[in-house]
Amino acid sequence: MKNIVILISGRGSNMQALLEAHLPCRIAAVISNRADAQGLEIARTHGVPTAVVSHRDYPDREAFDIALAGTIDAYHADFVVLAGFMRILTEGFVTRYRGRLINIHPSLLPSYGGLNTHARALHDGVKIHGCTVHFVTADLDHGPIIIQAAVPVMCRDTEQTLAARVLHEEHRIYPQAIRWLCSGQIHLTDTGHVEMGHRKQTGFALISPGLE
Ligand code: GRF
Repeated sequence: MKNIVILISGRGSNMQALLEAHLPCRIAAVISNRADAQGLEIARTHGVPTAVVSHRDYPDREAFDIALAGTIDAYHADFVVLAGFMRILTEGFVTRYRGRLINIHPSLLPSYGGLNTHARALHDGVKIHGCTVHFVTADLDHGPIIIQAAVPVMCRDTEQTLAARVLHEEHRIYPQAIRWLCSGQIHLTDTGHVEMGHRKQTGFALISPGLE
């Protein structure tokens, strides 16, 4: 059975969705760069080992990433799963875990990489928004895509209502992506593409606002 290590910085709701999804892997540890991350307590109540590697204890990104990798490797991680981990990772770190490092981002990439994705989507007036699970590369928020979920943007949406609609889908697609990974159904090719076994795909369009 594969080992996964989850990295968090805060609330940990995606981590919690993974802990409760009965995945075909062992969640070896949850690591945070912040000792006060709420998700750490949730992990402990699920009986998952936790560790803190504080970025404040290191002079620069390189030193922090080396310490972080040392902690991850101590748990024999096959896959490293970023779940609201708010640190930009160095190229050395990303290369070390190539094909084994996954992230979830609250937008339909490649649109709205970076922060404040829901506010930016509302500002632009897009009618469809969503979330993406992808392999992490040195190109921030632009790694090869594994799965996406699209949601409608409703006319009375606020940043909060839209965030909640997207988050609900995040909690559905992240466990699915990790399930595929841990059971060997997807992998990152040498040319940087996601190779997938034959999957059943629905051909429905999401049209928003709907047709009349
Ligand atoms: C999620 O929206 C995730 O997509 C993004 O950061 C947020 C983390 O939320 N990377 P949580 O800590 O999983 O609740």
